[in-house]
Amino acid sequence: MSDLFLEAEHAELYRKYRPRYPKEIFEIIDRKLTESTAKLPDGLKEKYKRNREGRWKRALDVGCGTGQATLMLLDSVQEIVGLDSSDSQIHQAKIECGDKDASRVTFLCEDALKISEAFEEDSIDLILVCQAIHWFDRANFFRECLKVLRPGGVLALVGYGLPFFNDEVIDKLNREYIDESLKDSPIRSTIDDKYAEVIKELRCVFPCVERDDSIVQNLDSTVDEYVGYLSTWSNYRTYKRTNPPYPDVLEVFRQKLQKCVPGDAILKRKFDFFIVFGIKSLK
Ligand SMILES: C[S@@+](CC[C@H](N)C(=O)[O-])C[C@H]1O[C@@H](n2cnc3c(N)ncnc32)[C@H](O)[C@@H]1O
Repeated sequence: MSDLFLEAEHAELYRKYRPRYPKEIFEIIDRKLTESTAKLPDGLKEKYKRNREGRWKRALDVGCGTGQATLMLLDSVQEIVGLDSSDSQIHQAKIECGDKDASRVTFLCEDALKISEAFEEDSIDLILVCQAIHWFDRANFFRECLKVLRPGGVLALVGYGLPFFNDEVIDKLNREYIDESLKDSPIRSTIDDKYAEVIKELRCVFPCVERDDSIVQNLDSTVDEYVGYLSTWSNYRTYKRTNPPYPDVLEVFRQKLQKCVPGDAILKRKFDFFIVFGIKSLK
């Protein structure tokens, strides 16, 4: 279990600066669940069909952080549980959720490896993991997922690559900062290879594995917003903890950016998303 997301201040920054997910991702996931449910034998198809409001019965968002992705499931799922091992993240997720459909969304502080203790076998239509699978003990987590997913249920692993910029000078500065700050990070290769290694591991456990790389998000932000986003990275939090009182590497980067960009000018950045699906067998 990661101890990197426990600080209250980190969770607050996380809620404020982490990007929201494009709705197209959830449409793609919903279609995948529709397809796999359509292939079920008739009895099971009836059992696991959508309810009268057109929603699936139950989904988990594991490693939900401050709940941005959890809430995106409200349209397509009746009952949603956001689960995270950090109390501070769960606290912020509850604030993010406010009283939005409080009866349909709950947040739980729990380890990803304990989902089969918290939920019954074959009881979950969808397990979502957004930008968090690199922190888990994957082989064991995938086995946990197989226990609680219903037949034809879907595990959707969503990730996004490192940001890049339209402006060449900014992009170069950004690359330099990222290369330096992630040089010792164990998660860099998982993100750079767009979950290629994760897929291999998933194939050892799930009978059917697929991927979708069609979504790219364009985001406009000021220098402050972008630096705010970088301040949520776990490698920077570790740096801050282990190098007091620092030369603050992020502050140095901000000053370099500000020399190239006037005060409130907008930076145009892009993220590539990748979605990896594990689909449970149909009986
Ligand atoms: C990079 S954040 C992603 C949060 C959110 N899903 C998002 O997309 O913004 C990773 C999250 O995984 C959580 N996490 C790490 N290891 C975990 C584990 N073993 N069980 C549950 N949550 C875990 C962390 O506390 C953190 O909130």
